[in-house]
Amino acid sequence: MKLKILVGTMTSTADYVAQAIQMDCADLVSSIEITMMDDLDISVFDAAHAEDAIYLICSSTYGSGDVPDNARALYESLAEQPQFLGHVRYGVMALGDRTYLQTFCFGGKKFGERLLDLGAQRIGEVWCHDASSGTLPETEGAEWCRQWLASALAGIGQSAATA
Ligand SMILES: Cc1cc2nc3c(=O)[nH]c(=O)nc-3n(C[C@H](O)[C@H](O)[C@H](O)COP(=O)(O)O)c2cc1C
Repeated sequence: MKLKILVGTMTSTADYVAQAIQMDCADLVSSIEITMMDDLDISVFDAAHAEDAIYLICSSTYGSGDVPDNARALYESLAEQPQFLGHVRYGVMALGDRTYLQTFCFGGKKFGERLLDLGAQRIGEVWCHDASSGTLPETEGAEWCRQWLASALAGIGQSAATA
């Protein structure tokens, strides 16, 4: 099983989280691919790419609860070129800041909802990181991801040894 991390970021924090996951979780899956969302569209979820894979959306939040600029084309294509994504398994890591009370982590959460609307199978709850908490998103995120991935694989019926 492969882990495909799709990164939406403005100032690279989400990318650092993805890189920490790539280092810390390598033993759990056959490969971990990190792809920046720039220039992606809904075809990244085509059955051929999704086979034997779990997706992880790792996105920050900007503006007033918007996805980052590099994630906009992918996010909009999920609405403009809708397709049934029942074959897609995914999790969500949402980066935000509780100072933005009304729109906390909306970037990642919006992705999660749009994928759910298209029939994709969400694994686990959305993980949220609060930049105002003073905790390191890379450390906390990689820790969360290890547990999330292990239970996702167990749910799919794969142990780390066979993944
Ligand atoms: C101009 C600006 C707007 C932001 N808007 C929001 C927001 O609406 N909701 C939220 O939860 N976080 C918001 N944030 C916080 C970022 O999402 C957070 O700092 C995140 O860790 C940045 O990750 P990145 O470096 O991967 O882009 C905003 C940050 C900036 C600088």
